[in-house]
Amino acid sequence: MRAEDWNARYAEQQQWSAGPNALVAELLEGLPPGRAVDLAAGEGRHALWLADRGWQVTAVDFSATGLARGQERPGAERVTWVTADVLDWSAPASSLDLVLVAYLHLPEPDTTALFRRAVTWLRPGGRLLVLGHDVDNVTAGVGGPQDPTILHSVTRLAPVAALLDVDRLEQVRRETPAGTALDTLLWGRRSDRTVVPRR
Ligand SMILES: C[S@@+](CC[C@H](N)C(=O)[O-])C[C@H]1O[C@@H](n2cnc3c(N)ncnc32)[C@H](O)[C@@H]1O
Repeated sequence: MRAEDWNARYAEQQQWSAGPNALVAELLEGLPPGRAVDLAAGEGRHALWLADRGWQVTAVDFSATGLARGQERPGAERVTWVTADVLDWSAPASSLDLVLVAYLHLPEPDTTALFRRAVTWLRPGGRLLVLGHDVDNVTAGVGGPQDPTILHSVTRLAPVAALLDVDRLEQVRRETPAGTALDTLLWGRRSDRTVVPRR
């Protein structure tokens, strides 16, 4: 979907819950605050939640309308909001403690290239958290985009995982009012030894 399509969606109504995804909250809750980027932040539910816990957060999304919803929420002044295409945006090398990417779905080559770049933004020990709809969700889950070419899987995220010390790379279940959805989770740390190829 293009930025205009997302803007139209966000203009219609609030799209996501005000609070964070439960698994994102569970994984990040115990971490000491640092510098984070929420890529494709949408209405900023995760950026706002992190900022509330003392993180210095930059929320990046190409939908100005989505970000505007977040900017109206309490605590929004603690977040840096950036309207940009994530494929063009960059953070300085080794500058971040956390890159969070929740439910961003792009064609696979773009996804892989973006996540590989995102690893270079992490300091050694910094964390990458990717959570999104799994490709199996189309046939065995509920909701989410139905185009399998843009969805995640353990296999598709393996080249990114290879750059990290991986804590978790797996398909996870998410209970929704409509039934069980299937997501893919990548949760890992940039190691001291990580050498990230330029492409
Ligand atoms: C399903 S929403 C998820 C929002 C947020 N991460 C969350 O979990 O609440 C996907 C978001 O990706 C953004 N997006 C999609 N492609 C993008 C791109 N190329 N650059 C920046 N944002 C993008 C959309 O505008 C939308 O806000």
